[in-house]
Amino acid sequence: MRVTNPVSIIDQQKQVFRILKYGAEVLQRKAAPVTKFDAELRKLFDRMIATMYAEHGVGLAAPQVGVSQQVAVIDISGGEDRSKIIRICNPEIVESHGKQSIEEGCLSFPEIRAVISRPKHVLVKGQDMDGNPIELEGDELLARAFCHEIDHLNGVLIIDHVSALKRDLIKRRIKRKIKNGEWG
Ligand code: NI
Repeated sequence: MRVTNPVSIIDQQKQVFRILKYGAEVLQRKAAPVTKFDAELRKLFDRMIATMYAEHGVGLAAPQVGVSQQVAVIDISGGEDRSKIIRICNPEIVESHGKQSIEEGCLSFPEIRAVISRPKHVLVKGQDMDGNPIELEGDELLARAFCHEIDHLNGVLIIDHVSALKRDLIKRRIKRKIKNGEWG
């Protein structure tokens, strides 16, 4: 998910991933559960966080960087408060209520926004990077971020939440961008 926020220069010195855009097959595939909670996984988290900040994101899912694993990072403060970083493996929404409909963006759909209906509150279960079970609650923007990133891990994208008419409009815009070499 994406919002406009300042980016820290320090992050850009770390190794960041290239973000895959809509059209990449891995984005529409269900990611595999994490079973190995090792140093590789920690490295993946570090690089995903650096990438999220470098791209002004508030959330990033591993398939967006070409890794088909159920790994997501979220920081709705956009790097303002790093104690708020969420690192989660194998997340699942176990409870949700309420409704909110707000424009959402996605780092895999640059410059495209769509109004998407999401629950106002969610309870998420998953595992931390050591494999310990965790339970997290989210309201408003955080609830949306959880839904958005968990969607990614199931191969579901913002384009799957909009009407057929809006989907066609978005696809036409993307085709134009591909033609102009703006979608790589
Ligand atoms: Ni996204």
